[in-house]
Amino acid sequence: PSGSGPPLEHEQVRVRRGPRSGVPVVVAVHSTVLGQAIGGCRLTGYRHWTEALDDALRLSAAMTDKCAVAGLPNGGGKTVVALPTGYVPGPAARRAILHDVADTIAELAGAYATGPDIGTGPRDMTIIAERTPYAFCRPPADGGSGDSSVHTATGVVAALRALCAAAFGSPEPAGRRLAVLGLGRVGGHLARQLAAAGADLVVTDVDPGRRALADELGATWREPEDALGCEVDVLVPAALGGILNPDTVPRLRCAAVAGPANNQLDAPATADLLHRRGILWAPDFVVSAGGIIHATAVELHHETTERAVARVRGIGDTLARILADAARTGDTPAAAAHRLARQRLDGRRLDLARP
Ligand code: PHE
Repeated sequence: PSGSGPPLEHEQVRVRRGPRSGVPVVVAVHSTVLGQAIGGCRLTGYRHWTEALDDALRLSAAMTDKCAVAGLPNGGGKTVVALPTGYVPGPAARRAILHDVADTIAELAGAYATGPDIGTGPRDMTIIAERTPYAFCRPPADGGSGDSSVHTATGVVAALRALCAAAFGSPEPAGRRLAVLGLGRVGGHLARQLAAAGADLVVTDVDPGRRALADELGATWREPEDALGCEVDVLVPAALGGILNPDTVPRLRCAAVAGPANNQLDAPATADLLHRRGILWAPDFVVSAGGIIHATAVELHHETTERAVARVRGIGDTLARILADAARTGDTPAAAAHRLARQRLDGRRLDLARP
């Protein structure tokens, strides 16, 4: 804890140039206080590997809070692979990258297990599992619990119901206007579930090809730069992080924000900006836990999918409790959620300290 600058919060961080692929691989283990660290493997373009390191540090810390608030016996970690911008690896290069990731994870000897994230999916987990057992969400045919994105979406819907109950007095999405920003794997499932529940949807994606889904669902398509400032009840960030910052918060025209994108705030202080504008922000690390809740319930605790999905829906109760706590104390929901995470982590530290 001495020295200059903030203390190193992470238990360990590995940065290596993949010996097969030549691509920078970062694996960050933030905390194993509650148990094995878990967090997905992100495979995307970066201008510089230090940006991937930055992402891995922030995303792994958020996973610690995500697991703690979800009540899981797990800690937080993350893998980030820094692809050169614009580079799309072919199948052989992709295998080489995933094997480099696998060997880095194997060296951690079980302190950390990975799963899918932006740029990876269940079949990539099978390739990682060729060299280390610590990979969640392989396809069911390969022995895993499969794609977690639909379960993440189910958890977001449960969270949105709790949020609507707190903000508008009714949990029903029917007739509410919601803007889903990002129609990737989670955002796509989410838009479908919300449309089926009767929500009035505005949607966007950086990929114009996703407009077909908007048409199929009868949703209003907006260009990405316009969607953020749409007049809606709830804004639902479902793409990359950093979307809430001092530039964007003044442009919002919504009552509340809740979605599955990780690290939506550019910095912790942005939660206060939202609070001062009277916008209710449901912390991303509370809302987006459905994937890890389902995957760990099925793969570690051998529960049925039905039981696991019931646990995923429990995110609604967790968020309701956090929002009630925030309303009672006058704190931001972010502060209330961090308090809950800290209680679970400190409780465990005390247990460990007892003889
Ligand atoms: N991308 C998931 C998340 O951010 C990571 C994950 C999913 C890890 C499923 C393990 C199992 O929460």
